[in-house]
Amino acid sequence: MKITLLITSLVIAFTSISQNALFIPPTITSTNINLTLQTGITQFYSGVDVNTLGANGSLLGPTLIMNQGDNVNIMVDNQLADTTTIHWHGMHVSPENDGGPHTTIAPNTIWNPQFTVLDKAGLFWYHPHLHMQTNKHVSRGIAGMIIVKDAEEAALTLPRTYGIDDFPMIIQSKGFDATGEIEWMGHIDSMLLVNGTVDPFLNAPAQMVRFRILNGSSQRVYKLGLTNNQPFQLIGTDGGLLNAPVQLTRYQIAPGQRADVLVDLSALQGQSIQFMNYGTEIGNAIYGSSQPGMAPFMTLPGYSSNPLNGNDFVILDINVQAPTASPVTTTPTTLTNIVPLVEGTQQITRALTFTSQNQIAGPFLINGSTFNHDVVDYTVPLGNREIWTLTNQTPIAHPFHIHDVQFQILDINGATPPPELQGLNDVVLVPAGQGTVRFIADFLDFANDTIPYMFHCHMLQHEDQGMMGQFLVVNTASIEELGSLEEISIYPNPSSGNEITIKVGNYNGEIVISDAGGRIIKRLSVDKQTTFNLTIQSGVYFLKDSFGRTTKFVVR
Ligand code: C2O
Ligand code: CU
Ligand code: CU
Repeated sequence: MKITLLITSLVIAFTSISQNALFIPPTITSTNINLTLQTGITQFYSGVDVNTLGANGSLLGPTLIMNQGDNVNIMVDNQLADTTTIHWHGMHVSPENDGGPHTTIAPNTIWNPQFTVLDKAGLFWYHPHLHMQTNKHVSRGIAGMIIVKDAEEAALTLPRTYGIDDFPMIIQSKGFDATGEIEWMGHIDSMLLVNGTVDPFLNAPAQMVRFRILNGSSQRVYKLGLTNNQPFQLIGTDGGLLNAPVQLTRYQIAPGQRADVLVDLSALQGQSIQFMNYGTEIGNAIYGSSQPGMAPFMTLPGYSSNPLNGNDFVILDINVQAPTASPVTTTPTTLTNIVPLVEGTQQITRALTFTSQNQIAGPFLINGSTFNHDVVDYTVPLGNREIWTLTNQTPIAHPFHIHDVQFQILDINGATPPPELQGLNDVVLVPAGQGTVRFIADFLDFANDTIPYMFHCHMLQHEDQGMMGQFLVVNTASIEELGSLEEISIYPNPSSGNEITIKVGNYNGEIVISDAGGRIIKRLSVDKQTTFNLTIQSGVYFLKDSFGRTTKFVVR
């Protein structure tokens, strides 16, 4: 009975008659955040009950609005029958607050992470992350958006009234098993949802509107575009604003990735326009194209019969209505200034190679092994700048994600990335068949000798199969023997003011200053002798050069 109804509704979906108002998740703006993970029932199609999971509701969760510098205090109350975790995807938080597989929340217990929001304005998200259960918990419904604001973004003329000219769009696909319940193991995810709404329409004003887009799908890549090839402006990616808007007619978004997009609707009052997936344009060996592997014989059960694969379809129907009283009508020409991390300044390069045990079916290995909860793959000294080289020897593209950092892509298959990929990112799609990606990142602020951060494929089936590893960030400065080195001196030491002079013998290069807790305060480029005006609080600090030589100084 349920199945018949679902099939009928899918037929309606493909004639693209949008019938349901897009759900806009409620917001939480307080720094005291309560999230209750719960079971519920959702009618994706009217009259058909499906068991789902949600935070503070039956499906998905509230949008958390945070400000840079906020001290947030979060109570995650697990009312599910399963142990789970909640991870703040993309946010720069300490390992103990990160919500990875090591920070479990047993049923009927509360987890209480507390952290300072250090991120720049951007779009992040939260989702469960228990090893081998991530796909189940996310597919059955738990996920939510996090919008971080900061002063730099607030000073720009941009739409930012949530639900009025600034709209969240969580794009997901789901499938059902023979009993009509959500399934997460297969490739039959033919129901397309935005914010949990099937066949959604949105009434939007005839002006510049902003869409905060998250690909929250377990496996599926989308090639976003607007009907009639209307251009849009990409203003931000995973970790925040781009240096300048990039005008596009297509944007490919992989699982876990976010896009901050402006669409000019000012000339379209009384008309409608659609966000589309141009699945016919997705390249082979990408999940969502007609051919998920490099060769036509590489198939997955249910994949070819799934109408979402390799086809164009409507994601969101936008009905353009009267403008608001004070609409934004322009796009800023510059947005932020991302300081490039230059190749050659890194401490180390790490090589990660992906292989498969069975073509596109996996399990997929990283450097020859699957995830082992008890094995730390890398130990990163706090303050390191690293290049990670990803090589994909499998016949399917993988969206690689790393916790803790926002990275800058150096190259993809040896080529400089296009402007839309030159911002800050925490997910990158690594092309199939010997595809390579190199990124560079700084591992700052947080160290923990026991709780690791994760890196993994964000196709949740692959992650749960073990395409994941972990790294510790350790504070080496605190365990080194300290004392003034001949080559480097600081005066006055102790210092009573903010101005200190750092004198180096024959050294030019980078100097890192960290506080007693190992937190990086500043990275300086020095050339023999340099005077710096450091506005830092009283305390003990450590200065380290690129040979690891450390000097201690005190500001009183
Ligand atoms: Cu969005 Cu480790 O995950
Ligand atoms: Cu993450
Ligand atoms: Cu993968």
